[in-house]
Amino acid sequence: MFSRLSRHAVFFCKRSFSSTQQQNFKVAVLGASGGIGQPLSLLLKTSPLITELSLYDIAHTPGVAADLSHIETKAKVRGFMGPSQLKESLRGVEVVLIPAGVPRKPGMTRDDLFNTNASIVRDLCTACAEVCPQAMICIITNPVNSTVPIASEVFKKKGVYDPKRIFGVTTLDTVRANTFIAEAKKLDVSKVTVPVIGGHSGVTIVPVISQTTIPVSFPQEERERLTKRIQNAGTEVVEAKAGAGSATLSMAYAASKFTASLLEAMAGFEGKVECAFVKSEETEAKYFATPLLLGKNGIEKNLGIGKLIEYEVKLVSDAMAELKANIKKGEEFVKQS
Ligand SMILES: NC(=O)c1ccc[n+]([C@@H]2O[C@H](COP(=O)([O-])OP(=O)(O)OC[C@H]3O[C@@H](n4cnc5c(N)ncnc54)[C@H](O)[C@@H]3O)[C@@H](O)[C@H]2O)c1
Repeated sequence: MFSRLSRHAVFFCKRSFSSTQQQNFKVAVLGASGGIGQPLSLLLKTSPLITELSLYDIAHTPGVAADLSHIETKAKVRGFMGPSQLKESLRGVEVVLIPAGVPRKPGMTRDDLFNTNASIVRDLCTACAEVCPQAMICIITNPVNSTVPIASEVFKKKGVYDPKRIFGVTTLDTVRANTFIAEAKKLDVSKVTVPVIGGHSGVTIVPVISQTTIPVSFPQEERERLTKRIQNAGTEVVEAKAGAGSATLSMAYAASKFTASLLEAMAGFEGKVECAFVKSEETEAKYFATPLLLGKNGIEKNLGIGKLIEYEVKLVSDAMAELKANIKKGEEFVKQS
């Protein structure tokens, strides 16, 4: 079900569009000057579907916007800095990407970021709900298991909630799983897609290796080792960066891949499928990542968990307690704000 056509190094340059398909989307990046925000904005600047790119941050956006604006692609880039310019940055925007907030340092869990990042996501989403309530909201800021419920509660409070339009971007988990499984089996990685379901932290990340697009089998010990590596891959980067942050370049790649699929689906291309952490009825957790068929209005259809092997059923069950606690923490935060 995953689209092969989005599996190119630069997703945005491979399509030909008919004159009836929308090709003039306005996209905003909130947190555009950061480690993720800058390379993500660069990749978005290469999209033939984007005509306006709005870059918002509390620092450095004039420089980032001036730099990107010299690139010879059609998106017009504008920089906005500081809360007084936030609403202006969101006018007419159809897709909002949010990588604003602090990243992990060695020894930290994603949940340790909650105290700082929860209010950043709440405040940015409040502005989105007021200025561009119909936009697709794509949340990168960790802890995603809590920031997606925060965004949803903010939209509910404002009376403009549409669960089909709020996504936690978990694409990096699939990107990593594709890389590691293809390496382990010496496969052409462009043909390998591993669905990753559940949430986006530690044990809540559930790679469904049994559903890899090219069927693969592993001895149980090897399957467990690969599963743990996918679950801890973010920590691998945090430790290698030794205090200088978490994944930025691979995350920018993953977010641009997700955005390419979303924009193409919004433009009318059929069959665009990505995993993301969304409001869900698939399990007892209120939010859960599964493969989603994307369409003009966001989630067209939740494709669900599919058939799991016994080990993966256990992984889902092991994820539940942490996932539900993370979700509740996000919901309570907005209720008490
Ligand atoms: N979803 C994922 O798979 C994934 C992967 C990696 C990192 N992340 C998360 O993404 C977030 C950003 O990571 P990074 O490495 O880019 O961090 P960074 O510190 O390099 O950049 C964050 C940016 O956010 C800006 N910012 C802070 N407060 C803001 C506000 N109120 N409004 C607008 N901008 C604000 C900062 O000025 C900075 O430019 C972190 O929370 C990190 O944990 C998510």
